[in-house]
Amino acid sequence: MSIRPQQPAPATPAPGKLPITELPELKARRQPIVMVTAYDAPGGRLADEAGADLVLVGDSAAMTVLGYHSTVPATMDEMLILTRAVTRGARRPLVIADMPFGSFQVSDEDAVRNAIRFVKEAGADAVKLEGAGATLTRVRAIVDAGVPVMGHLGLTPQSATMLGGFKAQGRSAAKALGLVADARALEAAGCFSLVLEAVPAPVARHVSRTLAIPTIGIGAGPDCDGQVLVWHDLLGLYDGRAARFVKRYAEVGDTIRAAIAEYAADVREHRFPEEQHTYAMPEQELALFEAAVSDEREHADERR
Ligand code: KIV
Repeated sequence: MSIRPQQPAPATPAPGKLPITELPELKARRQPIVMVTAYDAPGGRLADEAGADLVLVGDSAAMTVLGYHSTVPATMDEMLILTRAVTRGARRPLVIADMPFGSFQVSDEDAVRNAIRFVKEAGADAVKLEGAGATLTRVRAIVDAGVPVMGHLGLTPQSATMLGGFKAQGRSAAKALGLVADARALEAAGCFSLVLEAVPAPVARHVSRTLAIPTIGIGAGPDCDGQVLVWHDLLGLYDGRAARFVKRYAEVGDTIRAAIAEYAADVREHRFPEEQHTYAMPEQELALFEAAVSDEREHADERR
């Protein structure tokens, strides 16, 4: 068995950043780890201020902020822009960039090059890759390059077509055992943490107890070492049908819609802007300005 570092430190952790080595300690203390997605600087800042430990710039962005019907169309360029914005807002939480479909499937070299782009160009602390199988050598290559990797098993949206849709995974004994084997393989490949999405709770509990690295669940029951929710689901901003595992903590969409409707009515009824929203100018300058425009008006009248 080869000896490889399980939790490589990022090259330059920023001051005040949660050390990645703290995560297994949180697991050991049974202190749940909080992860939330974010896609822009205010989102990163608010997640940080609210005390999130991990911020995932998920490729769910393709659906939540870019308006696609799946995560597949998200590109490296789009994910780099979003990640850069989030890292400008989030100080303490570790920011994890989701590697989009096509950015790591072709070769280890491609995967390493793209993972390094997230760290160097966007300030990400780590990357996340979906799947096991061929993903295992990608994980090893990226970790060997010094970039921490989070794994993702269960419902892996980038391969939803292969899985027969957005469905819970690991619901037969054979599939559940396969998932456990994949989880062990990802840990052995060097992942520092593992997302379990839409997996029966007993299976997620077993994986969480078996692995030394923390598991982060979404639709995987209460016994994972941490939980993640998608920003738009948690806040009531996403329009589509919510998955069973979503809990809405706010209806921000309703608040935004009502605020914009009120603004529109104010504009149409001449209630906005008011005096307090406008700029004055010194009286002398105003007099000069009005004299000049009245001269201009007279000349225009003469020309007509
Ligand atoms: O893209 C995403 O937001 C994710 C989470 C659901 C884990 O992968």
